[in-house]
Amino acid sequence: MAHPPAKADLASSAGARGGDLARDRAAQATPAIAAAARLTAEHQHEPGALLPILHAIQDELGCIPPETVQTIAEMLNLSRAEVHGVISFYPHFRTEPAARHVVQLCRAEACQAMGADALAGHARGRLGCDFHQHSADGEVTLEPVYCLGLCAQSPAMLIDGQPHARVTPARFDALLARTLKEPA
Ligand code: FES
Repeated sequence: MAHPPAKADLASSAGARGGDLARDRAAQATPAIAAAARLTAEHQHEPGALLPILHAIQDELGCIPPETVQTIAEMLNLSRAEVHGVISFYPHFRTEPAARHVVQLCRAEACQAMGADALAGHARGRLGCDFHQHSADGEVTLEPVYCLGLCAQSPAMLIDGQPHARVTPARFDALLARTLKEPA
């Protein structure tokens, strides 16, 4: 007599079916969804797979497009809210492409103690935008980061991934002007 499948078998076969369905759908979907499905399949068996998957998607696509969330969720047997919650929790993840240049100001404690708030106010005014937005000329995305390991030389920031320490408003302006002169 055949035995019913164990609960774990059911869960794993339901997961496999969900993953198959998501992959089938992704094969006929947008390039972003297809890329998300491929990268999710590559990493989904790692412990704590969601974070490496989100990093891989953002590294390849420049952001995590909202339309990929359902595919990621189905393949990992998570809810869309769970995936969205992780994306929105970490300031590193963005849901739309960044501008040509990305300025990331440290907002963590040591930098705050050395004037990061004033620097942030200066940067907002200079760029004409708030955090998570693009500058008025569309050239720069302003993002917060939380400690760059440069606490002894705070306040610190990254421009296009390059670290800069002891940043004053005047130094911010000089670095930004130099960055904007760089050829596209
Ligand atoms: S707190 Fe800003 S670099 Fe550490």
